[in-house]
Amino acid sequence: MRHLLSAGDLSLAEITSILNTAEEMHTIQSRPIKKLPTLRGRTVINMFFEDSTRTRTSFEMAGKWMSADTINVTGKGSSTSKGESLRDTMLTLDAMGTDCFVIRHGSSGAVAQASGWVKAHVVNAGDGTHEHPTQALLDAFTMRRHFRARAENGQSRARAENGQSRGLGEESFEGKTIAIVGDLLHSRVVRSNVLLQRTLGSKVILVAPPTLLPTGVDQWGCEVTDDFDAALEASDVVMMLRVQRERMHGGFFPTAREYTELYGLTPERLARLRPGAAICHPGPMNRGLEISSEAADAANSLILDQVTAGVSVRMSVLYHLLGGSPE
Ligand code: NCD
Repeated sequence: MRHLLSAGDLSLAEITSILNTAEEMHTIQSRPIKKLPTLRGRTVINMFFEDSTRTRTSFEMAGKWMSADTINVTGKGSSTSKGESLRDTMLTLDAMGTDCFVIRHGSSGAVAQASGWVKAHVVNAGDGTHEHPTQALLDAFTMRRHFRARAENGQSRARAENGQSRGLGEESFEGKTIAIVGDLLHSRVVRSNVLLQRTLGSKVILVAPPTLLPTGVDQWGCEVTDDFDAALEASDVVMMLRVQRERMHGGFFPTAREYTELYGLTPERLARLRPGAAICHPGPMNRGLEISSEAADAANSLILDQVTAGVSVRMSVLYHLLGGSPE
């Protein structure tokens, strides 16, 4: 693997390998000393031209915990604010001996284009409304753990009740249904999740008002509906998406109240989730708009598990790209 630009570029074997290595990385997160020598001597530059809390911090932690030298470059503090082109900025930093660029950029396609200019590896940390592959990987990691825990619970209950054990493969994505709900139009998270989940074999139901459906969504191979309640009854995971007001130029729904009523994960809908179903949200959340506090903080909410997984999965991605220390 040279770059990670799109979730659609990953084979099932590559996804499985990234998720399995992430499991190993996950164990160091609960250790008092979080340090591996794996990427000693490697330099990772995080270039974030859009705001970020969890993605930028978790990439930085991931690099640091593996002993890489991590450097942060932002749009405001760099020469791009003096008019330097992205290409010249990248060529400059590449010439210094960078091993990997982690890039978030407001323009769809900018990261893929940048990967063609440099010798270093490139990771797409979100480009416009296009893709966010490490988010889809950390979502898959979190869901896989949830399915596994649910299967283990079921097995021990079945064994206790009638001496039977359930079949293997309960943790697999085959036969699982994931509803992705909300502002699909502006979401790179949904695009990467649809591509990754297609390879993993789950069924994805997309739920949104018609005004927030991307053009060509009917070609994505997913069920598309505006009926959240019907989707809710069929889903093992309900992934809520943020209403991205900063990307909205115009009225996409009449009122916030109406949006919440039709597409919000309200306390009423929380009560109607299938037994064992889980809640995800990539964050940042608009509490009270797309998700109620009751749902965000519920026992079956995986939202903070997603954040934790973000570091493990990004460690694994950097490891897969940079392949350990040169020695
Ligand atoms: C997402 C993003 O930036 O695309 N957040 C994230 O990376 N955790 C989703 C969002 O901003 O709503």
